[in-house]
Amino acid sequence: MLRVMASGCAYSLAGMFARLLSSRRVTGGGIVRVPIIAGNWKMNGTRSEAIQLASAIATAAPTRPLPGNAVAKGVAAAEIVVCPPSCYLECVSQATQGSQIRLGAQNVHHESQGAYTGEISATMAQDLGASFVILGHSERRTLFAETNEFIHRKVHAVLGRGLCPIVCVGEILEQRESGRTVEVVREQFLGSCADLTREQMLRVVVAYEPVWAIGTGRVATPAQAEEVHSQLRQVIEQKYDRHVADAVRIQYGGSVNAANASELLRQPNVDGALVGGASLQAESFLVIVAAANETAA
Ligand code: PGA
Repeated sequence: MLRVMASGCAYSLAGMFARLLSSRRVTGGGIVRVPIIAGNWKMNGTRSEAIQLASAIATAAPTRPLPGNAVAKGVAAAEIVVCPPSCYLECVSQATQGSQIRLGAQNVHHESQGAYTGEISATMAQDLGASFVILGHSERRTLFAETNEFIHRKVHAVLGRGLCPIVCVGEILEQRESGRTVEVVREQFLGSCADLTREQMLRVVVAYEPVWAIGTGRVATPAQAEEVHSQLRQVIEQKYDRHVADAVRIQYGGSVNAANASELLRQPNVDGALVGGASLQAESFLVIVAAANETAA
């Protein structure tokens, strides 16, 4: 039976079998990884701009087939997530109501409540409509001194609430130039996702974001991205097994835009994108979504 991974949920879509067999994302084990495009809005925009952007994306975004209508549509299109600042989660949730857009928080604290001035918990993010949480973004690691150990606690907190973590890993330029990329992303991944059961790991989305590519306009080449993604998949296989490695989605992030998305997303191990700057304009974000839909079709 064909299993399709989306939002960490596996569901059977027997009717899509023939169509999906032609997709590069059908692995030997019959797993299909549904591409996931997430917009990381970072600390940008006003409330009304957030509503406007979310509404524009929700209105224009193509419909993703759900279990009930998948056979009729016959297309496995990308999953779309927007991650506004946490203070705008609720209004963006309202603006995207009834659409296929899912919501993500950009960070949470690992405790569920308490004396943590300025923080929000996974429970609170969920309460405001989030089903994903970005964790371990390089800006959090660098500017807010987040360690793998700290991110690991957050991963558990997020999974504990039934949300899906998007766990970011990535090397700085110096590490790449000294040939340490795989060692660095391996250590970040294993440290951040330590102790996860198979079932928990299947709900994690990994985002490979080379730090030198974030916000710089200097994007990794498709070959560079593919190489690290396939190495990360091997790390997952070594820790778990082939099934988990085949099922976990690995996004690329770092200067993804409307012009370069298509080539990146066509790489067999690139299962989507985590998009910063280009997610702040509905037009460019939707071009990236369209590129992902093409690879999924
Ligand atoms: P960028 O950001 O697309 O602006 O490089 C990506 C990210 O930080 O997730």
